Amino acid sequence: MLNDFISDQKAELKIDGKVYQLPIIIGTEGEKAIDIRKLRTETGCITIDSGYMNTGSCTSDITFLDGEKGILNYRGYAIEDLAKNCTFIEVAYLLDHGSLPTQKQLDDLARMLTGFSMIHEDMIHFFDHFPPNAPPMSILSSMVNSLCNFYPEMTENPLENFDLMSARLISKIRTIAAFSYRKSMGQPLVYPRHDYSYCTNFLHMMFDSPVNPYEVNHDVVMALNKLLILHADHEQNCSTSTVRLVGSSRVNLYTSISAGISALGGPLHGGANQAVIEMLEEIHANGGGYRKYVERAKDRNDPFRLSGFGHRVYKSFDPRARVIKAACDQVLEASGMSGDPLLEIAKNLEEVALQDEYFIERNLYPNVDFYSGIIYRAIGIPSNMFTVMFALGRLPGWIAQWKEMWDDPDGRIGRPRQIYTGPTKREFVPIQDRIEE
Ligand code: CMC
Repeated sequence: MLNDFISDQKAELKIDGKVYQLPIIIGTEGEKAIDIRKLRTETGCITIDSGYMNTGSCTSDITFLDGEKGILNYRGYAIEDLAKNCTFIEVAYLLDHGSLPTQKQLDDLARMLTGFSMIHEDMIHFFDHFPPNAPPMSILSSMVNSLCNFYPEMTENPLENFDLMSARLISKIRTIAAFSYRKSMGQPLVYPRHDYSYCTNFLHMMFDSPVNPYEVNHDVVMALNKLLILHADHEQNCSTSTVRLVGSSRVNLYTSISAGISALGGPLHGGANQAVIEMLEEIHANGGGYRKYVERAKDRNDPFRLSGFGHRVYKSFDPRARVIKAACDQVLEASGMSGDPLLEIAKNLEEVALQDEYFIERNLYPNVDFYSGIIYRAIGIPSNMFTVMFALGRLPGWIAQWKEMWDDPDGRIGRPRQIYTGPTKREFVPIQDRIEE
């Protein structure tokens, strides 16, 4: 409850000579917010905050992020510890239930994930009707939204059915993602196996073939677990806020998540991982001259930006990028790609940028997307599937945030206000009297 965190401190606001006292809310990690819930009623004013740079839309028990210190914790656990010691499914349980699972809880979840891993045969026909070059993110978003038609019983009492609904979604999104790749390649669908773990099953559905059986590589499976863990939640980012906002209208979980997938696809958000690899490939194809790209990124007259650099919240470093960079060499070796020239270019680009005044002044560091594409590529995942991988990882976070939003006693439909700046009242002009303006 928001009111449980109201402190004794007050902020003072003076408007037209009148002073208003505003409560201050303090979170468990000491973060402060001015409570403006009664601002408009008491003062007639609203706040303007484009891009919501200073706006807290909720309180949340899920993820703590300190952008200045480069800290990211899920439910109090540092992501470095989780990435080192857990599987993705353990972390999904942690996010959605609030605590790490016991062995029995984990086994139960694994059983549910296996049980739900098929998708309805009628849904499989949908894949036949997307055009050949349809972006996988739009296929994913459409397919996830259509799940609510196949499992309508899940939408009536969402919290009663939460465990079921969440396991179903986490399991099926993996099958949908792999199937959309197989279809795009014109290859037969590969069904999930009951004896494989979550990540192994995904790789099996992606890459197994009757003429070239997929051989499970432990290091690759561990790397995939790590990547998905590092993407699993990131508090109120663009796609998560979308999930919460859409869900606040009380629409079902599948539709809310589908909207989040759409938001994630943009190049300023999850789409950046694809943009990074395309940028590195371009630099490589042009002879590896990375310095020219750093100069272009600094040029105000050039719209080019260094993809995978900068972050709205992290201003010292992105802790996820550090873990991923450290994993790169190991994965490249495991997949027979050590010496990948793109990794060399990425490291050089990072080094040059980090010593450059432009990047230092603006606190621009490599973000999670800068190195993740190199690992995905080494695993064999094509670049147009990178953002789908981000969505697979982010799903448990979206689900946890949706549940928290649904259950929040302070929750209301999301409905920002605006300041109108258009024409004031005009006389209506009949069509025959109108002149072109
Ligand atoms: N390359 C060159 N200049 C940059 C970059 C970049 N990647 N990012 C920011 N800047 C400059 C920007 O031009 C501005 O300069 P000035 O003050 O001279 O106008 C200054 O740094 C501040 O940038 P901003 O766009 O106001 O910052 P923001 O917080 O609105 O945007 C961002 C954050 C991530 C959208 C932006 O840094 C960016 O476009 N980065 C490249 C895309 C990217 O890697 N996105 C992935 C984000 S992490 C994963 C995720 O959230 O999905």
